[in-house]
Amino acid sequence: MTSTTTYPSAGQLNPTPRLLLGPGPSDLHPRVIAAMTTPVLGHLDPQFLLLMSETQEMLRSVFKTRNELTLPISATGSGGMETCLVNLVEPGDRVLICIAGYFGERMAEIAHRCGAEVHVEQESWGRTFSLDRLRDALRRVRPKVLGIVNAETSTGAWQDLSSLGALCREFDALLLVDCVTSLGCTPVEIDAWQIDAAFSCSQKGLSCPPGLAPLTLGPRAVEAIRRRKSPVRSWYFDLTALQSYWGTERVYHHTAPITMIYALREGLRLVLEEGLEARYERHQRHARALQAGLQALGLRTLTEGHCQLPQLHAVLLPDGVNDVQGRKRLLEEFGIEVGGGLGQYKGRVWRIGLMGYNSRANCVFQILAALEKVLADCGVRCHRGSGVAAAEAVYANSPS
Ligand SMILES: Cc1ncc(COP(=O)(O)O)c(C=O)c1O
Repeated sequence: MTSTTTYPSAGQLNPTPRLLLGPGPSDLHPRVIAAMTTPVLGHLDPQFLLLMSETQEMLRSVFKTRNELTLPISATGSGGMETCLVNLVEPGDRVLICIAGYFGERMAEIAHRCGAEVHVEQESWGRTFSLDRLRDALRRVRPKVLGIVNAETSTGAWQDLSSLGALCREFDALLLVDCVTSLGCTPVEIDAWQIDAAFSCSQKGLSCPPGLAPLTLGPRAVEAIRRRKSPVRSWYFDLTALQSYWGTERVYHHTAPITMIYALREGLRLVLEEGLEARYERHQRHARALQAGLQALGLRTLTEGHCQLPQLHAVLLPDGVNDVQGRKRLLEEFGIEVGGGLGQYKGRVWRIGLMGYNSRANCVFQILAALEKVLADCGVRCHRGSGVAAAEAVYANSPS
């Protein structure tokens, strides 16, 4: 007897294009898509090795660092987080994690799994930590590592880090920063802010697909790894071994995801061609327009004031709007993806991202127009056209 297998038709294999205005992934820049069609080279091909070095050099420029140990991990942002923690932390080490949202919680969980003695400094979701509060916590805990999120994607809150590195040095603690949602959108100054270790991702501000986690470690972090008493508990994420591939030795560790590195290289080129300051200003400008439109529609965000990130807005859902049905309508009728809430804000916020390539006026106008229609259909009172008009007024007053 012969059995027949049916495969999906070609049409079924092609997903409908979406406008990705959630917390990430965001849309790929067309030049990144083009770069990904470049023929695959071997991971030790001299041309590829050159391309790796170029990518690392551009990563240093975007992270604003001279750190030798700067490379993309073959994993998503969480893999970057895990790499930093598993290398810096030995079982029994005291670690202080600052939690004001979902991703702070993830950092604490990973530190715990690395065998650390985890101490937590909690802040309400949507708020950020003051330097005084962190000084008290450092004095109390005396941790080896302090971990904190620069841009908390679950709340849209921006954490100021400019003086935290100096403070950590006073207490001989290493500063580890989650830059997953900040890199390529808001300033990240590794050297100037004395950050010892930081990681990010490819799929948000860099407008690449998910799959790489750029990271950078400074001399104090490298020294802490050198002084470990026990081997790193992860083989794949062991930075000393990874550095023997990415550094001068060029020893095979794992088969690098060649196409993703082409993508990252192009994403970084785009950032540097635009210029970091111009890119940050672009994110601020489109965020101002979005916020004006949201306000005109009577909507509020979870995080307010100067802590509001330009690249991620957690919009509180008005009464009468069903989270799942509303997002389904945005997706199916308008082709727009926004994110739902996480943790304690599940069902209570929609997370709108304007990241990298998607920080532009037509994304702002499309989401405001679609939101207005969906909200009005749910019976929310709003002046039709007011969101788009408010955004337009911002653009008129701040020409690019
Ligand atoms: C602040 C933050 N940290 C870590 C992560 C985890 O990254 P990934 O989903 O790429 O593993 C995310 C993902 O959205 C994030 O926003």
